[in-house]
Amino acid sequence: MQDHIDRVLIDRHTIAARVREMAEQIAADFRAAEGGCDPVHITIVPILTGSLIFLADLIRHLPLMMQIKLVTVSSYPGKSTSSQGVELQGQLPEDLTGHHILIVDDILDSGRTIKFVTDLIAARGPASVRSCMLLRKQIPSAINTHADYIGFEVPDEFVVGYGLDYDGFYRNLPEVVVLKKEVFA
Ligand code: IMP
Ligand code: MG
Repeated sequence: MQDHIDRVLIDRHTIAARVREMAEQIAADFRAAEGGCDPVHITIVPILTGSLIFLADLIRHLPLMMQIKLVTVSSYPGKSTSSQGVELQGQLPEDLTGHHILIVDDILDSGRTIKFVTDLIAARGPASVRSCMLLRKQIPSAINTHADYIGFEVPDEFVVGYGLDYDGFYRNLPEVVVLKKEVFA
């Protein structure tokens, strides 16, 4: 697996430091929205599968009462490296009335996934909805899509690791990397 890596874009220490920083900002913002007190609870909505590792690290730095409601969405089936349209797999959380929601995803690319999930959640009566992405591609579709928290900007390349996959693989790489061209051949 290591010999498939062309170059490391973001190393594990840089990711860890930024994730901690993001969590501090998120906790401060949720508290500020409640007038300096802890919100009653927040509901984290991770978009699976790509947000898995980011989610696990982020929530351990978030000292807030929280529930987690998983959403599974697929837009890059199999070996595709461009969005094939967003598809919800399985159920959405039923009732989110009055919940303070934080949607967590791995990367903002075309923006379709986050728009799709935000719209579905907004229709379920939450008190507030924020979104948090580890990565954002430096392309107009991503930059022009609203997101409340962004970890890192990345170039317009297909990246894997730290939860992101190619054809289901490489999620367990601890760093965000670009693969060698021959891997896609
Ligand atoms: P969007 O809907 O185009 O914004 O893309 C969001 C989803 O596509 C993410 O949640 C990822 O699962 C997947 N994705 C987009 N770009 C990449 C990439 O460079 N590597 C791996 N997955 C990606
Ligand atoms: Mg995803």
